[in-house]
Amino acid sequence: MGEPSHLPKHVAIIMDGNGRWAKKRYLPREAGHYAGMGAVRETVRAACDLGLENLTLFAFSSENWKRPKTEVGALMGLFRAYFRSDMDELVERKVRMRIIGHRGRVAPDIQTMIEDSEKRTAHNRGMNLTFAFDYGGQEEIAAAAQELARAAKDGRLDPETITPELFAQRLFTSALPAPDLVIRTSGEHRLSNFLLWQSAYAELLFVDTLWPDFDRAALTGALEQFAARERRFGALDSEAVA
Ligand code: IPE
Ligand code: IPE
Ligand code: MG
Repeated sequence: MGEPSHLPKHVAIIMDGNGRWAKKRYLPREAGHYAGMGAVRETVRAACDLGLENLTLFAFSSENWKRPKTEVGALMGLFRAYFRSDMDELVERKVRMRIIGHRGRVAPDIQTMIEDSEKRTAHNRGMNLTFAFDYGGQEEIAAAAQELARAAKDGRLDPETITPELFAQRLFTSALPAPDLVIRTSGEHRLSNFLLWQSAYAELLFVDTLWPDFDRAALTGALEQFAARERRFGALDSEAVA
């Protein structure tokens, strides 16, 4: 398979289907999450090799706390394991790590790990790899609104100056371009509270592949589909204008 001609600037992936992958194999759901970590590793490597600038992966939603304690514990354990096992390679690949999400609700050692990884890679100029972890889009938007309201109340901000651009600067993703491609695996057709503001004009791609089966070829295939899409941003395509 050749390299896709027109790369998106920012690919965001809703990594879904670990549980069903495990169920098909009569394995516990945790085994699906473990296999999902392998798919993360392979996808990150492939994205780096392709020269993608921004990759954002939805690893744990603010609603995923509703799952059984044992499953939440397993997911937290895998998050720790991934950082321990893959940080050196990520550093070597000049990846810059960011974690977006609530932070205050995860275990203190994970908070420290997140801060360390961000510090350690802050000067890297390779791919921006962002994990959405304890992330919820509505929560993110409400927090930004709260911050702006506070600033207005204190007289530090004129409400008339609030524009979409200013608002976007208050989101976790202020350093990143908006995703132009959002992929969801496992055949579900919804965003599940992922990057709601940021995805306003993203191309959405829903694939049936279960996340643990997602690999280099699946990523390349998704990028090829993106390259074939026509984006208009509310205007007309060039042929219609001519
Ligand atoms: C995605 O897989 C991983 C997380 C949400 C953390 P799921 O665990 O949602 O897998 P399914 O949807 O039950 O198959
Ligand atoms: C979305 O998947 C969250 C992640 C992929 C981390 P879910 O499996 O939690 O979403 P729903 O419950 O099917 O909407
Ligand atoms: Mg799911």
